[in-house]
Amino acid sequence: MAAGAGPTGGKAARRPHGLVERAAEISVFTRLLARGRLGDGSVVVLSGAVSTGKTELLNALVDDAAATGAVVLTALATPAERDEPLALVRQLFRTPPQFGPEDDLAWPRVTDAEAASAAPTDTGTTPTDQLSTSAVHDLWSAIDTLARRVPVVIGVDDLHFADVESLRCLAYFGGRVRASRVLIVVSENIGHVGTDASRASWHTDLLRQPHCHRIQVSPLSPRGVAELLDTRLRLPVGTVTTTRWHHVSGGNPLLLRALTEDAAAVARQPAGLAGLAEPTGPAGPAAPGEPAEPAEPAEPVAGTAFGQAYLTCLHRGGPDLLQVARGLAILAESGSSASLRQLVDADEPTVERALDLLERAGLLERAGPLGTGRFRHPAARAAVLAEMSPGERSHLYQQAARLLQVDGAAAHTVAAHLVAAHRPPGPWAFAVLCRAVEETLDHDRLFATECLRLARLVCSDDMQRATVALLRLRISSPSAEVDPLTAAEHQVAVQAALGGTNREIARILHITASTVEQHLTRVYRKLGAKGRADLRSTFMQFAREDLD
Ligand SMILES: Nc1ncnc2c1ncn2[C@@H]1O[C@H](COP(=O)(O)OP(=O)(O)O)[C@@H](O)[C@H]1O
Ligand SMILES: [Mg+2]
Repeated sequence: MAAGAGPTGGKAARRPHGLVERAAEISVFTRLLARGRLGDGSVVVLSGAVSTGKTELLNALVDDAAATGAVVLTALATPAERDEPLALVRQLFRTPPQFGPEDDLAWPRVTDAEAASAAPTDTGTTPTDQLSTSAVHDLWSAIDTLARRVPVVIGVDDLHFADVESLRCLAYFGGRVRASRVLIVVSENIGHVGTDASRASWHTDLLRQPHCHRIQVSPLSPRGVAELLDTRLRLPVGTVTTTRWHHVSGGNPLLLRALTEDAAAVARQPAGLAGLAEPTGPAGPAAPGEPAEPAEPAEPVAGTAFGQAYLTCLHRGGPDLLQVARGLAILAESGSSASLRQLVDADEPTVERALDLLERAGLLERAGPLGTGRFRHPAARAAVLAEMSPGERSHLYQQAARLLQVDGAAAHTVAAHLVAAHRPPGPWAFAVLCRAVEETLDHDRLFATECLRLARLVCSDDMQRATVALLRLRISSPSAEVDPLTAAEHQVAVQAALGGTNREIARILHITASTVEQHLTRVYRKLGAKGRADLRSTFMQFAREDLD
């Protein structure tokens, strides 16, 4: 939204704003605008999660107001100016409003000197005698005087980034609009307001008053998604696929728009390539050999635009949202909410709040075994992971593995995180990696081999080396699929690989020599080993190999 004084009364052309599913919100505003014209002003807060369409709605409302002849003063709060005293108010008063032929209005300017006097002192406290009552009142008087000639609408976007002094001024104005022809409309991200007292007073004191109205801006419903796709973007979608678009986007209009860009990109691809794009719907890609269907944008395809939009939403939402989304991406639907908290190094209320905001923005579903949150599409998780530096990702994966281990997660789940870290874990990981090999060697040999490679990197004694050697035999032995070693057989085999005789093994393990012999017979059969010498030579060969 452009900052500064708005269009002249009655001259602005009415722009069709083309917003989907905002008729109710617009009509509330229209009613308040009409009351404002009669001297019954109000404060309207458009409140919603990140990227749900607050700015779009605010723009539409102030455009509508300008079209009815109101003077519109607008400002956009930004993170960069959050600590700059009066930055926002200076925007509002930047240009004297032009509203008619007799615009001889005395219009105050907020000078740098005033702003400097409102800056915190060296001791960190803000003196109370600057810009307070009289100066703020002068600003209000100028607006009120203007409003006697023409209705005034003050529109502020992203109020959560407003500097404290401006917020104080706005609260002062807000407290006085009731008996004036001034309407204040602001947008703000829910949960992004901050906790300091000066900000809180805007909410606690002002917004409780009867002339203050909160309009909730929510993601689009499935019907809204269908409307946007059908009428605005002219995509031929049916009910089933609309549900898919809604599911993947969570109704978040920014994500939805990104999905339509990805769909358009797929449609531009040559038919053969388009057929190879990974669809997110139940239809699946064209089978090899089948002619690819011409690209049909009815199914959402989460591609580059979607990934970028997803990251935009997270960054706009603030550091907590980003950090929690990263934690969830790393945990990949494993672990408890306690492990998520530890991983992102935040307390329970912070994580809960972030999860709630992510859900309300349509960026996550509150489902999944964790009860924390689940990405609506793998492409969202992939984008979050890809944005991290390799070092950061690796560190988080290893931390997650440790937390999952403490949480009692299955060995293969812990090991999957260690493998994803792409660097050697600490010695603690040996046992869990070996268990993961056991758990997966009969159905995911590739993963088991990866776990074994890592286990080998952290071996610290002969016993561990023998264990790894045995596991390697089992991975490469076809019979391992049908007949895994029992724990007792494994213990005997390790001792045999280390060179123990039957008698020695019997003594170490407190069993009889004949039991040792029986175990070993089964071990050889299961591993396809020819005998003790074979077992031993595998171990020796393994011990000699380089570790890299
Ligand atoms: N009601 C709506 N109908 C269609 N598109 C919308 C609607 N609301 C927002 N959009 C689109 O969604 C995107 C995000 O909206 P925006 O207003 O910037 O969100 P916010 O200010 O809440 O972060 C914009 O690109 C906008 O065009
Ligand atoms: Mg916005």
